[in-house]
Amino acid sequence: MQKNIVILISGRGSNMEAIVAAAIPGARIAGVISNRPDAAGLNFAAERGIPTRVVDHKAYPDREAFDAALAAAIDALAPDLVVLAGFMRVLTDGFVSRYAGRLLNIHPSLLPSFPGLHTHRRALEAGVRVHGTTVHFVTPTLDCGPIVVQAVVPVLPGDDEATLAARVLVQEHRIYPQAVRWFVDGRLSFDAEERVRVRDELVGPAGWTVPPVEA
Ligand code: GRF
Repeated sequence: MQKNIVILISGRGSNMEAIVAAAIPGARIAGVISNRPDAAGLNFAAERGIPTRVVDHKAYPDREAFDAALAAAIDALAPDLVVLAGFMRVLTDGFVSRYAGRLLNIHPSLLPSFPGLHTHRRALEAGVRVHGTTVHFVTPTLDCGPIVVQAVVPVLPGDDEATLAARVLVQEHRIYPQAVRWFVDGRLSFDAEERVRVRDELVGPAGWTVPPVEA
């Protein structure tokens, strides 16, 4: 049975592209939904015959009304998994609960460091030597929730926000399709403390998930 994936974007959509390009066996990209009509990623999806839909947050009086419309658009696509890929809206607790255990997000930092915006600038300001990205299940607290996979990059002398963001983005495009693949393969579960366990995860001598993550 194929699993239906619904991807939510707000802009460029490069993570959505990476997930589409991965052509994950057993997964069907049921639709791409944007809260912004001008999101560049919508063209990429439409060109590949993926159904697209805009639910413009500006058309709704409050978060509850927007989230209700968004949920209706998502549910019309019968999702097994909802993937936030650069989706720049804070979601209500009701929305998050509705998709508990089947809502993933990618964040451009090594959570729990640097939740919120401007992560690369803040990493540079803090002087951290390593930075990275995190795929996590979404819970009501912003940029929190059980971690599925992370990737680490060095912060190099001379880095600025743009060079650091570019180095992190390469890793985003690697780990997000991986996390979706694990979900589709039924390899993700939660332990008693709500941490994510990955069945048969390949872990190297340094204790990190070994790239390429999939054998
Ligand atoms: C990525 O850095 C993602 O981690 C963050 O927003 C950016 C979206 O990029 N949440 P794209 O739209 O996937 O290209």
